[in-house]
Amino acid sequence: MSLSVTSKTFKLNTGASIPAVGLGTWRATEADAAYKSVKTALQNGYRHIDTAAIYGNEEEVGRGIKDSGVPRSEIFVTTKLWNKNHKDVEGALNESLSKLGLDYVDLYLIHWPHSTDPVTGKDYTDWDYVDTYKELQKVYKASNKIKAIGVSNFTIAKIERLLADKDVTVVPAANQVELHPLLPQDRLLKYLNEKGIYAEAYSPLGSNDSPLFKNGTVVSIAKKFDIEPAQVLISWAVQRGTVVLPKSVTASRVISNLKTLVLPDEEFEQLSKLSEKDGVVRTCDPGWHTYDDDLA
Ligand SMILES: NC(=O)c1ccc[n+]([C@@H]2O[C@H](COP(=O)([O-])OP(=O)(O)OC[C@H]3O[C@@H](n4cnc5c(N)ncnc54)[C@H](OP(=O)(O)O)[C@@H]3O)[C@@H](O)[C@H]2O)c1
Repeated sequence: MSLSVTSKTFKLNTGASIPAVGLGTWRATEADAAYKSVKTALQNGYRHIDTAAIYGNEEEVGRGIKDSGVPRSEIFVTTKLWNKNHKDVEGALNESLSKLGLDYVDLYLIHWPHSTDPVTGKDYTDWDYVDTYKELQKVYKASNKIKAIGVSNFTIAKIERLLADKDVTVVPAANQVELHPLLPQDRLLKYLNEKGIYAEAYSPLGSNDSPLFKNGTVVSIAKKFDIEPAQVLISWAVQRGTVVLPKSVTASRVISNLKTLVLPDEEFEQLSKLSEKDGVVRTCDPGWHTYDDDLA
């Protein structure tokens, strides 16, 4: 069993291919960090970059794409609509495209199911994520600036409500959520699979100061196969059929994170059941009652 650079892709419900491993860029905010990591990633085999308006690094990401020398047509780029722009999807998209220096994005996501007034910062009382999705759908249908639309941080209940709306005619291509062995979200994954919505794993390494790098099971699997704990986690995520978005601003890690292997059934199962043994950990909850309707 040996590691190899993964060029695996999955298919979205639009028919487009999405590379299984994408580079995350949240908190890549030090000067030039996002630029360098994106350029390093693309020059070492990545073909998928994940950013967001709120990360504040779309300009650097765009420069990294341009200077990598990899043709735009070979790269899958995702960005996300921030909460305060839910009533102006097209304006926010245009701003992101202009910062990225691109004519289109491959995937545009509603970052959170949380709509706020840009002036007061308060939650809207006359608008929510279903209204936002309908706006997104309009822009998607009317222009070629977005190749696929999707959501992020949506529970089953929220997707059910979205799909039940008579004016929602485009099934989201993806739902980007936190997924790793301490938060496997099996029920959500099964549901997304049934609906043809692709699951994208964010914080797949457990985010900053991850408990996963100290987890006995993860560490012992890494030792057994003489690989990095991060490679164990990324391999597991790809093997369970999710898109996975590890972030690093360290060149050597960016490169090693693209190298995966197929885990034997025993180790794959150990990781799949890890949260039953060691407890569930969610690292990303900004406190907007996002998960209150989650029955998982
Ligand atoms: N849609 C959403 O709401 C949402 C929320 C969270 C994240 N995301 C997306 O998902 C991406 C990944 O999530 P994340 O940034 O929270 O965390 P992550 O990818 O799980 O973990 C990143 C952390 O792991 C470290 N790291 C990376 N590779 C490593 C390796 N090989 N060995 C040891 N440490 C390693 C990084 O350090 P260095 O960078 O210093 O190397 C960083 O501290 C984000 O960047 C973003 O694109 C989306």
